[in-house]
Amino acid sequence: MNTPEREHWSRGLGFTLAAVGSAVGLGNMWRFSYMTAENGGAAFVLLYVVLTALIGLPVMLAELTLGRGAARSPIQALAHYGGPRWRPLGALFVLAGFVILSYYSVIAGWTLRYAAEGLLFGFSTEVGAHFGEISRGWDAVAWHCGFMVLTIAFVAAGVRGGIERAALVLMPLLGVLVIGLAIYAATLDGAGAGYAYYFTTDFSSLLNFDVARDAAGQAFFSLSLGMGCILTYASYLKRDHNLPKEAMMVAVSDFSVALIAGLVVFPLLFALGLQSEVIGVGDSAVGALFVTLPKAFATMQAAGRVVGVVFMLALSLAALTSAISLLEVVVSSSMDSFGLRRKHAVWLGGFAIALLGIPSALDTSILEVMDSIGGAFLLVLGGLLLSLFVGWRVENPIAEAAAGRSYPGLRLWYFLLRWVAPPILALMAWFLFEDSLEKVRALLASP
Ligand code: PHE
Repeated sequence: MNTPEREHWSRGLGFTLAAVGSAVGLGNMWRFSYMTAENGGAAFVLLYVVLTALIGLPVMLAELTLGRGAARSPIQALAHYGGPRWRPLGALFVLAGFVILSYYSVIAGWTLRYAAEGLLFGFSTEVGAHFGEISRGWDAVAWHCGFMVLTIAFVAAGVRGGIERAALVLMPLLGVLVIGLAIYAATLDGAGAGYAYYFTTDFSSLLNFDVARDAAGQAFFSLSLGMGCILTYASYLKRDHNLPKEAMMVAVSDFSVALIAGLVVFPLLFALGLQSEVIGVGDSAVGALFVTLPKAFATMQAAGRVVGVVFMLALSLAALTSAISLLEVVVSSSMDSFGLRRKHAVWLGGFAIALLGIPSALDTSILEVMDSIGGAFLLVLGGLLLSLFVGWRVENPIAEAAAGRSYPGLRLWYFLLRWVAPPILALMAWFLFEDSLEKVRALLASP
């Protein structure tokens, strides 16, 4: 169904900040640092950058083009360009949104709790035990639900009044907090060793398929690609936007924040001699950031309390703007498909997602499985199908992307979408599928 009274961003900057707000999130700190630690440091980062440039950027421009051109939510946008047979791909996007937000909000809940407790009582020195309390059980469920209510409140206020306003205020604030933290970290004794670790490349990992697989998953997760998020935000754009520039802006900002986050985390850990606790962690990799960093904050006493609260606050804000974008995919799709009013769609969708997140809140191994299915496999699969769709099904995508102007590089974009992205993404999707399957089996086999 077409919605003539479709909402719009009030200004271009609103869209840019909202898209950057979607991309910059827990992925840049929590996921990036645990993936980097698991995958041999800088080699992983290098592969991540290469995959972002070769595949991430082209898929992002594809989403921007479809969203703006159709001015509809994903399911309708795909049907608009490709006919009703493509609707299921849109449904896959909505499913990914459900799965990702369900556990994303659990981690955001931990973050929020650390920020609140740090502010009120300081950071506990019994970090391992404390994380155990925070990350499992009904307390975690309560914080997860609290975070969902916050997300719901913003999305319910609409594109301009909620999403855009949140981005305009929170994103600049986030930038200041993160840069401030990096400057502080640089003043610590031992920061140099942290940088050295961060920038040392183990080139042998470059040829390792497992590392490439995780780098592809991380690139899609971090850029919010492969599930119609960027498409949905672009559907509220007016026609005269420079899409290639927007894609670059989002990718560069996202990568900068991930890089700067590393400049905060690694010096902190090395200055306090805690590096061995992140590097080489086995099962608990998912929680590494949430155990080791609070330990650093606790060790640093008064200064640590301030730095810790600022860090956790920054992380919570980053998570909020990303969660908003995840929920918006579900909401805009149900508004367009079922003719629901925004408020009803938000509460219904938000409630269902909160329910789905309960198992992840009760058990981190379930969370890890959800992350590998939703946060990696479904996104890369979505990216594969999107590149095939725009590369082979949509008529004259170059003209759609340019919208009457001309941009250098659009031919290269089309070539990458047709010939480069599909085979690489097919391979990565297959590996990620196997990896998810293995994780599910391990989960079922554990008592
Ligand atoms: N990009 C977000 C982050 O890095 C997560 C996200 C994934 C948001 C997919 C929207 C869609 O935290």
